Amino acid sequence: MNIIILYDTLTGTTHETAEVIAKELETLGHRVTLHRPSIHGRQPQLDGRDLIILGSPTYGDGQLEANMAMFTNSFSCDFSHQKVAVFGLGDRSYPQFCQATELLEAWVAKNHGTLIAPILKVDCFAKDVTPVTTWVRELVTK
Ligand SMILES: Cc1cc2nc3c(=O)[nH]c(=O)nc-3n(C[C@H](O)[C@H](O)[C@H](O)COP(=O)(O)O)c2cc1C
Repeated sequence: MNIIILYDTLTGTTHETAEVIAKELETLGHRVTLHRPSIHGRQPQLDGRDLIILGSPTYGDGQLEANMAMFTNSFSCDFSHQKVAVFGLGDRSYPQFCQATELLEAWVAKNHGTLIAPILKVDCFAKDVTPVTTWVRELVTK
Protein backbone atom coordinates (compact mmCIF):
# COMPACT_ATOMS: atom_id res chain seq x y z
CA MET A 1 0.00 0.00 0.00
CA ASN A 2 0.94 3.63 -0.50
CA ILE A 3 0.64 5.13 2.99
CA ILE A 4 1.05 8.62 4.45
CA ILE A 5 1.56 9.30 8.15
CA LEU A 6 0.43 12.84 8.83
CA TYR A 7 1.40 14.03 12.32
CA ASP A 8 3.17 16.66 14.32
CA THR A 9 5.04 16.79 17.60
CA LEU A 10 6.42 19.24 20.13
CA THR A 11 8.94 17.20 22.10
CA GLY A 12 9.50 14.34 19.65
CA THR A 13 7.67 11.32 21.04
CA THR A 14 4.95 11.39 18.37
CA HIS A 15 7.73 11.53 15.77
CA GLU A 16 9.42 8.51 17.36
CA THR A 17 6.11 6.65 17.32
CA ALA A 18 5.50 7.63 13.67
CA GLU A 19 8.93 6.20 12.83
CA VAL A 20 8.11 2.92 14.59
CA ILE A 21 4.83 2.73 12.63
CA ALA A 22 6.65 3.53 9.35
CA LYS A 23 9.38 0.96 9.96
CA GLU A 24 6.85 -1.76 10.74
CA LEU A 25 4.82 -0.91 7.63
CA GLU A 26 7.97 -0.96 5.48
CA THR A 27 8.96 -4.33 6.97
CA LEU A 28 5.54 -5.57 5.84
CA GLY A 29 6.28 -4.32 2.30
CA HIS A 30 4.40 -1.01 2.25
CA ARG A 31 5.57 2.38 0.95
CA VAL A 32 5.42 5.11 3.60
CA THR A 33 5.68 8.92 3.52
CA LEU A 34 6.08 10.85 6.78
CA HIS A 35 4.50 14.31 6.59
CA ARG A 36 4.70 16.98 9.30
CA PRO A 37 2.65 20.11 8.56
CA SER A 38 5.18 22.27 10.48
CA ILE A 39 7.98 21.08 8.16
CA HIS A 40 6.38 19.84 4.95
CA GLY A 41 3.45 22.24 4.78
CA ARG A 42 -0.30 22.19 5.27
CA GLN A 43 -1.19 20.79 1.84
CA PRO A 44 -0.22 17.09 1.98
CA GLN A 45 -0.80 14.96 -1.11
CA LEU A 46 -3.57 12.57 -0.09
CA ASP A 47 -4.78 11.49 -3.55
CA GLY A 48 -3.62 8.01 -4.43
CA ARG A 49 -2.94 7.01 -0.82
CA ASP A 50 -4.31 3.62 0.19
CA LEU A 51 -4.13 4.50 3.87
CA ILE A 52 -3.87 7.80 5.76
CA ILE A 53 -2.61 7.65 9.35
CA LEU A 54 -3.13 10.80 11.44
CA GLY A 55 -1.26 11.44 14.68
CA SER A 56 -1.08 14.09 17.39
CA PRO A 57 -0.04 14.40 20.99
CA THR A 58 -2.44 16.05 23.41
CA TYR A 59 -1.57 19.41 24.98
CA GLY A 60 -3.35 22.24 26.75
CA ASP A 61 -5.97 20.29 28.61
CA GLY A 62 -7.18 17.95 25.91
CA GLN A 63 -6.23 19.90 22.77
CA LEU A 64 -4.44 19.01 19.54
CA GLU A 65 -0.76 19.90 19.26
CA ALA A 66 -0.63 23.46 17.84
CA ASN A 67 0.59 22.56 14.33
CA MET A 68 -2.00 19.81 13.99
CA ALA A 69 -4.64 22.25 15.20
CA MET A 70 -3.60 24.79 12.54
CA PHE A 71 -3.53 22.04 9.91
CA THR A 72 -6.99 20.66 10.70
CA ASN A 73 -8.43 24.18 10.89
CA SER A 74 -7.14 25.08 7.43
CA PHE A 75 -7.33 21.84 5.42
CA SER A 76 -10.39 19.96 4.27
CA CYS A 77 -10.78 16.93 2.02
CA ASP A 78 -13.07 14.00 1.24
CA PHE A 79 -12.18 10.85 3.14
CA SER A 80 -15.32 8.99 2.05
CA HIS A 81 -13.37 6.58 -0.19
CA GLN A 82 -10.14 6.45 1.83
CA LYS A 83 -8.91 4.30 4.69
CA VAL A 84 -8.05 6.43 7.71
CA ALA A 85 -6.56 5.57 11.12
CA VAL A 86 -5.56 7.69 14.12
CA PHE A 87 -2.89 7.45 16.81
CA GLY A 88 -1.81 9.79 19.58
CA LEU A 89 0.58 10.33 22.43
CA GLY A 90 -0.50 11.38 25.88
CA ASP A 91 0.00 10.88 29.56
CA ARG A 92 -2.54 9.10 31.79
CA SER A 93 -1.81 11.49 34.63
CA TYR A 94 -3.85 14.11 32.71
CA PRO A 95 -7.64 13.84 33.00
CA GLN A 96 -8.13 14.30 29.24
CA PHE A 97 -5.91 11.36 28.27
CA CYS A 98 -5.09 11.41 24.54
CA GLN A 99 -8.14 13.54 23.83
CA ALA A 100 -6.47 14.96 20.70
CA THR A 101 -7.08 11.60 19.03
CA GLU A 102 -10.81 12.06 19.52
CA LEU A 103 -10.56 15.54 17.99
CA LEU A 104 -8.80 13.96 15.00
CA GLU A 105 -11.55 11.35 14.73
CA ALA A 106 -14.15 14.14 14.76
CA TRP A 107 -12.21 15.98 12.04
CA VAL A 108 -12.16 12.81 9.92
CA ALA A 109 -15.93 12.49 10.38
CA LYS A 110 -16.39 16.16 9.39
CA ASN A 111 -14.51 15.28 6.20
CA HIS A 112 -16.84 12.32 5.49
CA GLY A 113 -14.52 9.58 6.75
CA THR A 114 -14.64 6.80 9.32
CA LEU A 115 -11.73 5.13 11.05
CA ILE A 116 -10.93 1.60 9.93
CA ALA A 117 -9.44 0.57 13.30
CA PRO A 118 -9.62 1.52 16.99
CA ILE A 119 -7.52 4.58 17.89
CA LEU A 120 -4.01 3.79 19.14
CA LYS A 121 -3.41 5.75 22.37
CA VAL A 122 0.19 5.67 23.61
CA ASP A 123 0.78 6.52 27.29
CA CYS A 124 4.23 8.17 27.11
CA PHE A 125 6.66 6.73 24.61
CA ALA A 126 8.05 3.46 25.97
CA LYS A 127 10.95 1.30 24.84
CA ASP A 128 8.52 -1.59 24.43
CA VAL A 129 6.87 -0.79 21.11
CA THR A 130 4.85 -4.02 20.96
CA PRO A 131 1.44 -2.26 21.31
CA VAL A 132 2.40 -0.04 18.35
CA THR A 133 3.60 -2.83 16.08
CA THR A 134 0.59 -4.98 17.02
CA TRP A 135 -1.74 -2.10 16.05
CA VAL A 136 0.08 -1.70 12.71
CA ARG A 137 -0.21 -5.41 11.92
CA GLU A 138 -3.96 -5.32 12.61
CA LEU A 139 -4.36 -2.11 10.62
CA VAL A 140 -3.01 -3.56 7.38
CA THR A 141 -5.51 -6.43 7.50
CA LYS A 142 -8.48 -4.00 7.34
C1 LIG B 1 1.66 21.39 29.18
C2 LIG B 1 1.32 19.96 28.84
C3 LIG B 1 -0.01 19.59 28.73
C4 LIG B 1 -0.37 18.26 28.46
N1 LIG B 1 -1.70 17.92 28.39
C5 LIG B 1 -2.03 16.62 28.19
C6 LIG B 1 -3.41 16.23 28.17
O1 LIG B 1 -4.35 17.02 28.34
N2 LIG B 1 -3.68 14.91 27.94
C7 LIG B 1 -2.70 13.97 27.75
O2 LIG B 1 -3.03 12.79 27.56
N3 LIG B 1 -1.38 14.32 27.76
C8 LIG B 1 -1.03 15.61 27.97
N4 LIG B 1 0.30 15.98 27.99
C9 LIG B 1 1.33 14.94 27.76
C10 LIG B 1 1.85 14.92 26.30
O3 LIG B 1 0.81 14.69 25.39
C11 LIG B 1 2.89 13.78 26.18
O4 LIG B 1 4.04 14.13 26.93
C12 LIG B 1 3.28 13.48 24.74
O5 LIG B 1 4.10 12.33 24.71
C13 LIG B 1 4.00 14.63 24.07
O6 LIG B 1 4.13 14.33 22.69
P1 LIG B 1 5.27 14.98 21.76
O7 LIG B 1 6.62 14.55 22.36
O8 LIG B 1 5.06 14.34 20.44
O9 LIG B 1 5.12 16.45 21.74
C14 LIG B 1 0.66 17.29 28.26
C15 LIG B 1 2.01 17.67 28.37
C16 LIG B 1 2.34 18.98 28.66
C17 LIG B 1 3.80 19.37 28.80
